[in-house]
Amino acid sequence: MGASSLRLLTRPGVLSCCSLSTKTSTFATPAILINKRSPSLFRRPPPPLSVVSTRGFKDDALVKPPSQISKRWIRPDASCPSEWEAPSFAFAFDIDGVLLHERSPLPGAAQTLALLDYYHIPFILLTNGGGKFETDRVAELNEKLGASMTTENFCQSHTPFQELLPEYADKTILVTGSDYEKCREIMEGYGFRSVVTPGDIFRAAPEVFPFDTIGEDYGKPLPKPLWAPPKKKDAMTAHEKVLTTEQGGEEEEKKLEDHLKIDAMFVLNDPRDWALDVQVFMDLLQSKQGYVGTYSEENNRGNWQGDGQPKLFFSNSDLIWAAKYHLPRFGQGAFQHALVGIWKEVTEGRAELKRTSFGKPHRETYEYAEEMLVRHRQEWLKEKGYGEGDIKGGLKRVYMVGDNPESDIAGANDYDGKGRYGTEWVSLLVETGVYDATRMNFREGDVRRADVVSGNVAEAVKWALKNEGWRDG
Ligand code: G3P
Ligand code: MG
Repeated sequence: MGASSLRLLTRPGVLSCCSLSTKTSTFATPAILINKRSPSLFRRPPPPLSVVSTRGFKDDALVKPPSQISKRWIRPDASCPSEWEAPSFAFAFDIDGVLLHERSPLPGAAQTLALLDYYHIPFILLTNGGGKFETDRVAELNEKLGASMTTENFCQSHTPFQELLPEYADKTILVTGSDYEKCREIMEGYGFRSVVTPGDIFRAAPEVFPFDTIGEDYGKPLPKPLWAPPKKKDAMTAHEKVLTTEQGGEEEEKKLEDHLKIDAMFVLNDPRDWALDVQVFMDLLQSKQGYVGTYSEENNRGNWQGDGQPKLFFSNSDLIWAAKYHLPRFGQGAFQHALVGIWKEVTEGRAELKRTSFGKPHRETYEYAEEMLVRHRQEWLKEKGYGEGDIKGGLKRVYMVGDNPESDIAGANDYDGKGRYGTEWVSLLVETGVYDATRMNFREGDVRRADVVSGNVAEAVKWALKNEGWRDG
């Protein structure tokens, strides 16, 4: 949506758009399109005008705002910090396509986070990205965006997998993603005690994937051997023949339970080795109770995934995401669809692949993020010197700023008012990522239709502050 198609709405209580003028021009031309999904959005009356002298903490010492923020906002509540009220609104920011393009910060991203920090407005980062420890990713983001986030206000796609620890901490799980070893470390870091990768299985039985040769350092030894059918005499090595003769001629019937059993399978981020992963995942989805190398007779009775096969968890379902390339790139969702497509062939379309997806737009992830935001808001505002009473006012509204209508926007619209706090979620779509108005035009009532479309993250935040009755000085 170019500047020319701007439709600027001034309404009682909301000042006409003005710029958050900073060094970069991004803020110059206001670009906002408002879709009136829920009239409640426009409930807030304009607050009394007051001049703000600003500081990081709630004391009266006057300090110049950080360099990025040259303009002061006129808060609806009070002039000096000690009288500031705890904001009843907060932000949830998507990362790819909103704050970063792969590793490079997007214009205005750092300033926007600095502004919120400065005016004590809580926020979390809510990304479908993953593949790193939360602590490492937060350190990286702080360095890139000059911010001071912690893992208390950072949620990546697989962070909620920790909720599955009670069920799987002592079970054996299979994990995949962009880097097998990193995925193993992350899940072990969460507390899962027996973590296997497709690389480990390939290492133990290269014939599982006859298209590639095994690299020396590929995979790790398995906790248990892989089950394989008893060998026919003519397939035995000389040594095996001796062994079996000693055992009275027949190779001893192997006990299934002495072999590797996978209880659940997790995809942490965008897999790299699709071919091996698809083969190993499909083997296990057709196996007998998750024993690698077995095939369940139940499949022949059409009872697919009906014989204790491992549960399947995806950390997100993004088909596309905004990377550096000028066209959106396939994400983990493409891998999921590929698996679903092959499953359809294998089952001749007679069985839907049972699986659980986390990440945006799924409600579990918004529930998890809202709990994180409520906790972080309380702790963070307390640190800033706000009293219990003030903070207790609670979080009334969350502005979800995202670039992907399928995940960020649909998730926020769907979750709006559905959480246990009844918090309102307002969906703000930016044009710096996968969203393309020429290809994605959602009708009124479509859950992917954003409440507000803005040019970039700074304008989205500006719109939200005005919606909260703030005015920029
Ligand atoms: O793989 C990451 C991608 O799917 C999207 O990440 O930050 O835009 O939710 P994000
Ligand atoms: Mg994104």
